[in-house]
Amino acid sequence: MPGFELFGEKEKAQVQDVLDSGVLMRYGFDAMRNGHWKAIALEKALEERMQVKRAQLVSSGTAALTIALASAGVGAGDEVIMPTFTFVASFESILALGAVPILVDVDDTLTLDPEAVKKAITSKTKVIMPVHMCGSMADLGTLRTICKNHNLILLEDACQAIGGSYEGRPLGSYGDLGCFSFDFVKTITCGEGGAIITNDETLQKNADHYSDHGHDHIGKDRGAEGHPFLGYNFRISELHAAVGLAQLERLDEFLAIQKRNYSILREALSSIPEITFRKVPEGGVENYSFLSFFMPSKALAKKTHSELLNAEVDGCFYWYNNNWHYYRKWEHLTNQKSLGKLPKEVLEGLQDFSKTDFSQSDYWVGRNISCLIKLGWNKDEVASRAEKMVKTINKVMAISHS
Ligand SMILES: Cc1ncc(COP(=O)(O)O)c(C=O)c1O
Repeated sequence: MPGFELFGEKEKAQVQDVLDSGVLMRYGFDAMRNGHWKAIALEKALEERMQVKRAQLVSSGTAALTIALASAGVGAGDEVIMPTFTFVASFESILALGAVPILVDVDDTLTLDPEAVKKAITSKTKVIMPVHMCGSMADLGTLRTICKNHNLILLEDACQAIGGSYEGRPLGSYGDLGCFSFDFVKTITCGEGGAIITNDETLQKNADHYSDHGHDHIGKDRGAEGHPFLGYNFRISELHAAVGLAQLERLDEFLAIQKRNYSILREALSSIPEITFRKVPEGGVENYSFLSFFMPSKALAKKTHSELLNAEVDGCFYWYNNNWHYYRKWEHLTNQKSLGKLPKEVLEGLQDFSKTDFSQSDYWVGRNISCLIKLGWNKDEVASRAEKMVKTINKVMAISHS
C-alpha cells in the first residue's frame, strides 16, 4: 500500500510552504502563517473525496480509532466487537479507554463474520468495529442492520482500504464513524497521521476537542479557550498534513496503478483451479492494495508462502503466522502483559482465551496468502511476477497431488 513509493515534487512543495511560513502547528499563529493552513485544507479535501460532512485529522490511525471510540462515548467496561484478523491497533485503541475488546471470527471476506458478531453482542456492547484488511471490506449492509437493531455504533477501520467503496460510497463513510491511517506504508501517507470521518456533527465536535486536550477551539486566544471535557494531545503537525495534502491529490492515480497491477496478477492466478479468491461483499469495490487468495489447506498455504519466498517473489504474507495481525500471536493481550495495572473492568471483561474457539478464523486465515500490490512495478515486471507466481503455485500443487 505504499504511497511513499511515489513521493516527489508535489509533496516537497507542500512541505516547503510550511517551512517558509515557519508555523508547524495546525492551530493559531494566524498572522505568521501566510495563509497556510495545511491541516484544515487536508480536512476539507478529505471531506470532499470521502463525501462526508466532517473530517478530523490526527496524529495516527491508532489515535483516530481511540478518538473515534472516545467521541462515541466509549469508556470503562464497554465492549467493542473487533475481528481476530486485524492489526494490534484495534485492541490498543479499545484498551486505551478502559473498554474491553471482544474478538470475533472472520469469514471468507477476511473481515468480521456478521453471524459471529450477532452471537457476541451483550448488554455491554457499544460498538462494532469491522476492519477492512488488505483493501477490502466487511459485509457492511448486514453489520449496519445489526447495529440499528441493537442501537450500536458502526465504526469502520478503513486504515488499509482508503479509496475502496461499498454501495457506491467511499469506505469509511458508510458507518457512523470511519478511520484512516496515513502512516508511511499506507496507500497515501503523511509520514505519520490519521483521520476520522463522520456525518454526525456531535461526533466530529467531540473528535475535534478530544484530540486537542479538550480545547473547544472557540475564539482566537488558545489560552482562553474552554475545555468542556477531558482530552489528550493527538494533534497532527502542519508538516505531516502538508505531505498528506499532496498525496490525497494523487489517490486516484495510485488506485488506478494498483488496480492495473492487481488485475494482471489475478487473471494469471485464476488459471490455477485449486485456488479461490477472498470474497468481496456484493456492492463492494476493493482499493486493490493486496491480492488475497485461499489455498486448499493450511499446509499448502504455508508451503506456497515459503516457495514464493524461495522464488524471490517478495511482498506475499502468510498472516496466520504473523506476530502483529492475527490473534494467535497476541500473547501480550491474551496473557494481559501490561506495564502497569490494567483497569478492573478490563480484567473482568476480557475473554478467557484458553476457552475461546476461533477455528473458523483459523480455517480462513490459515489458508490465506495476501500479496502486496506495488505502485512502482511496470507492466513487464508485473507480468514476470505473475508468471513466477503461477509456476510456483502449480509446482506446490503438483507435489501435493503426487
Ligand atoms: C487496520 C489498521 N488499523 C489501524 C492501524 C494503525 O495505524 P497507525 O500506524 O497510523 O497508527 C493500522 C496500521 O498498520 C492498520 O493496518
